[in-house]
Amino acid sequence: MRAASVSDYRELARRRLPKIFFEYIDGGSYAEATLRRNVADLEAIALRQRVMKDMSKLDMAVTTLGQTLAMPVGLAPVGMAGMYARRGETQAAKAAAAAGLPFCLSAMGVCAAEEVAAAAGTPPWFQLYMLKDRGYMRELLARVKALGCPVLVFTVDLPTPGARYRDVRSGFTGSSGVSGALNTAWDGATHPAWLWDVWLNGRPHSLGSVASALQGGGRSVTDFLGWVARSFDRTVTWADMDWVRETWDGPIVIKGVLDPADAKDAVKAGAQGLVVSNHGGRQLDGVRSSISALPRIAQAVGSDLEVYMDGGVRSGLDVLKALALGAKACFIGRAWAYALGAGGEARVAKMLGTLRSELSVAMILTGCAKAADAGRELLDEDV
Ligand SMILES: Cc1cc2nc3c(=O)[nH]c(=O)nc-3n(C[C@H](O)[C@H](O)[C@H](O)COP(=O)(O)O)c2cc1C
Repeated sequence: MRAASVSDYRELARRRLPKIFFEYIDGGSYAEATLRRNVADLEAIALRQRVMKDMSKLDMAVTTLGQTLAMPVGLAPVGMAGMYARRGETQAAKAAAAAGLPFCLSAMGVCAAEEVAAAAGTPPWFQLYMLKDRGYMRELLARVKALGCPVLVFTVDLPTPGARYRDVRSGFTGSSGVSGALNTAWDGATHPAWLWDVWLNGRPHSLGSVASALQGGGRSVTDFLGWVARSFDRTVTWADMDWVRETWDGPIVIKGVLDPADAKDAVKAGAQGLVVSNHGGRQLDGVRSSISALPRIAQAVGSDLEVYMDGGVRSGLDVLKALALGAKACFIGRAWAYALGAGGEARVAKMLGTLRSELSVAMILTGCAKAADAGRELLDEDV
């Protein structure tokens, strides 16, 4: 199948990946109401069509934290990408670098930050959760700082993991023993392209950046959720940001804010950016969509820090809608994970090209010549 849109990459990933990984990427928590809202609320926003304007020069670049992005899109941290394609994080990071976009490496990535930096020729942004073992965190932060990672993305919406029922049904979580192992083996064996690419040629399958903390925790990548539940720190408060600040002297982006009061606290805590996010509908089901939370947060923080959003972005049109409502840039999660699962770097590169052309069409037809200037005038708010 030739893929034209993100939904086509999703379908290709569904065919190519073992069920446990496809469902892990595709699913959300509980009844998935927030996951659906993220997409539906973006879809419901009407752009305002304008005509007869000179659109010969389009400026899609934006500057975030001193870094110029070729378009207002970054690749959000997605755990275990190395299980969706051979050394998946390196492949996606290469596609992002070629497109002039930031790649944020998840602390739960199969590939370590060093491997990703070497492959992409540029160090990734680095995402971290607060772990109980602060000594280990300190070491990890020093390591990625020494590597030259420019931005720390600190994810705050996962003091405990939301229950993802699809992962239980697929056997990704909650199944163990012989029947669990047999199911997983059958799942892999019936996806030969994945078996060859990832299972046989994509090793080691550990979580590169946190591998040493995992000793005595999960045995393999697919066993990591139990470790997550044990290792994540529910006692974390804004006061811990002082500790993070002392340990990391570069820019910090807080990821996972939906409430204006929390956004103001992020400013007080000294963050340089925040991502309006509900973790792609994978945490607290029933909360509002990211796009509906965005305008209030953008208004609450003004120019005190840079505001980004993620959740439900499936096209360049969605990107423009988010810019119009106050985001400086968007992050995409599933969009790149699907493309990676569909066919590695080449497909991620193609998908990013598609987002770019969709964004350019949206800009031309709304009369928006400069992405950095996008505002509410691009929306038809009566619809
Ligand atoms: C498979 C998968 C794994 C994820 N892993 C992480 C992670 O390790 N750290 C993190 O901060 N967010 C993680 N996220 C959340 C994304 O960074 C992002 O917030 C979300 O995917 C945005 O929604 P979207 O998928 O609709 O674009 C993950 C999302 C997915 C789909």
